[in-house]
Amino acid sequence: MTVQSTQPRKLPTGIEGLDVLLGGGLPEKRTILVLGGPGSGKSILCTQFLKEGLEKYNEGTIYVSLDYSKKAFTHDMLQFGWDFETYEKNGRFLFLEGAAIRRLPQTTASVDAVYTPDDLTLEDLVDLLSLHIEKIGAKRVVIDDLTALTFRFPDDVQRRGAILSLIEALSPLDVTTVIISEALGYGIGRGINTEEYLSDGVIGMYLLKDGTRAIQISKMRGVQVDNKPHPYNIVDKVGIEVYPTETIFSEK
Ligand SMILES: Nc1ncnc2c1ncn2[C@@H]1O[C@H](COP(=O)(O)OP(=O)(O)OP(=O)(O)O)[C@@H](O)[C@H]1O
Ligand SMILES: [Mg+2]
Repeated sequence: MTVQSTQPRKLPTGIEGLDVLLGGGLPEKRTILVLGGPGSGKSILCTQFLKEGLEKYNEGTIYVSLDYSKKAFTHDMLQFGWDFETYEKNGRFLFLEGAAIRRLPQTTASVDAVYTPDDLTLEDLVDLLSLHIEKIGAKRVVIDDLTALTFRFPDDVQRRGAILSLIEALSPLDVTTVIISEALGYGIGRGINTEEYLSDGVIGMYLLKDGTRAIQISKMRGVQVDNKPHPYNIVDKVGIEVYPTETIFSEK
């Protein structure tokens, strides 16, 4: 009896080397975590994933930002040649900014209400997201970042519950979601974030002591991937470049 391959459909990230490691791209309709230290390129990598969907497949895309302002985002991404202002004008891209999210009509509460940061629950966010996903036919969503979303849950058990609810609520939405989170160090012995266990996949971006940047897919449920760390760079006018044939041998 031959075993039929049931590999999920993949969404190319547009980062050639990363797509090689992923065996084509991110698995469709799953929730993937991009984990890394400050300035490791998490926001750029995720934006490149959205840009690929917009440019190559005319997919609707959404960037949910808790910390990154729309103005700074638009300016920074233009340095790589990605014109998100035009994508937005064309109705294919939506930037949901923290403050704006709180002013948007709520599905679970009054349409006219103005919310303080503490009022925005994860349920509100998912409700708003599903409305907007439908509105523009979004296929790719980025949430930047989980730390800002869950800062109200200092207790580990509550935080785990909140993250699990978020991931479960995202699953019927028919989109591939990338959630950004902060990494707790690098290498054997680094702290493992709860969200790493709960998400379908984990891509880590690390700055090693010698200045090398390393990317590693530590997990991708249902998909065979390259789990080894490989070097990457952030290149002006290009974006993230991953070098899949180069390896990093020792933990630096
Ligand atoms: N135009 C550019 N050309 C080359 N490298 C750049 C350019 N713009 C930014 N960078 C690099 O990218 C880094 C920022 O990338 P990004 O904003 O994606 O990081 P991040 O992991 O999201 O950071 P944070 O945790 O602060 O949100 C900068 O620290 C810098 O090293
Ligand atoms: Mg960022």
